[in-house]
Amino acid sequence: MLAHIQGVLSAEEVASIRSVLEGTDWVDGRVSAGPQGAAVKNNLQVPEDSPQGQALSQRVIDALMASRVFVAAAFPARIAPPMFNRYDVGMEYGSHVDGAIRTYPSPDAGVGMGARHYRTDLSATLFLTDPDDYDGGELIIETPYGVHAVKLPAGDLILYPSVSRHRVEPVTRGSRWASFMWMQSLIRSDSHRNTLFEMDVALQELDKKIGAKDQTLVTLTGLYHNLVRMWSEV
Ligand code: NI
Repeated sequence: MLAHIQGVLSAEEVASIRSVLEGTDWVDGRVSAGPQGAAVKNNLQVPEDSPQGQALSQRVIDALMASRVFVAAAFPARIAPPMFNRYDVGMEYGSHVDGAIRTYPSPDAGVGMGARHYRTDLSATLFLTDPDDYDGGELIIETPYGVHAVKLPAGDLILYPSVSRHRVEPVTRGSRWASFMWMQSLIRSDSHRNTLFEMDVALQELDKKIGAKDQTLVTLTGLYHNLVRMWSEV
């Protein structure tokens, strides 16, 4: 399932993050890619050891964890510090699959990163440039239900299973800036996680319609939590 999470960052937060990024160093994006990815990757990234990048990373984490929809969709167990990339005119990232296991050198950053190693269950891109400001640069995600071209307003995030083959189309005007990240989910199975997310949304709607005191709704909410107990790995 692809989940479009709206308004993770406000327009003011996007502008503030962008103004810091204007003054940071950018390096060849191949530093964080494996051999297959590096062969088709042509973009720029903020180095992982950049102090400005690390401070921005924490701001993105805080925004993610404050988004109820994000938490309900992702069930994040470990989120490595989000990184920042840009695609200027002519840059692209060809078709690839994200590596299954990543290692992060600092146990103090991100969410739950004490274990250093984490499995990439979910990948996410948080858009930092408005679609009107660049051409091309769509994130193309192949899923069992078809191919999706994703280009979201600045401040919005797309969450997708890391098993998906994906690419970023060449930018033909302007510059596409984004934050990108990987995470391990408490719910390993994509279908289990999707079921829980849909159930959560339905329970929220029922709550609005009939009120939280309704005993049938209390039962259904209990069943939701029982499924989380059955399916989660902590
Ligand atoms: Ni990727």
